[in-house]
Amino acid sequence: METDDVAGDLSEVLYTEQQVHARIAELCREIERDYAGRDLLLVGVLKGAVMVMADLARELRRHVEMDWMATSSYGTGTESSGVVRIVKDLDTDISGRHVLIVEDIVDSGLTLSWLRANLLSRGPASLEICALLRKPEAAKVEIDARYVGFEIPNAFVVGYGLDYAERYRNLRAIGVLAPHVYS
Ligand code: PRP
Repeated sequence: METDDVAGDLSEVLYTEQQVHARIAELCREIERDYAGRDLLLVGVLKGAVMVMADLARELRRHVEMDWMATSSYGTGTESSGVVRIVKDLDTDISGRHVLIVEDIVDSGLTLSWLRANLLSRGPASLEICALLRKPEAAKVEIDARYVGFEIPNAFVVGYGLDYAERYRNLRAIGVLAPHVYS
């Protein structure tokens, strides 16, 4: 029977909301140091990055601008193919700007590899990546992410922006989806 026990659909909590916030605060201190004296444009990738972007931007004790992109990968089911289509492009001209891409997760790395090349072609002054999560075992291409929150095992992870069939994004914690939900 379908219930609304969202947290009950996890087999394991990997990071609580408090742990996520503490790690984001650490990343923000690094970002503040690294970008001191420079304008900073945060680029969030919809939809997964919404929660990270909201918390990261509010934790930063400095001015930032925010813009958003939405991409869709032509994949087979859950596997992304690396062929990416822009569903919503930036509103901002990033040439000459210091740009930090904000992502929830680097999985295969294919999305960010494509996005990085796409944004680099627009001539930013600098381009770096901040990803809350990274799955090293799932990497198909190496992504040079300057800021990484947590390295996680190659499990089906949801919460804090990450979805399964568009659900669980609103879960405050990050956890492993219980097999009974999808099998
Ligand atoms: C997720 C995530 C990254 C991408 C990572 O987005 O937000 O953008 O997959 O996977 P990769 O490293 O294997 O390319 P998704 O396409 O699921 O869209 P969403 O953010 O709307 O959930």
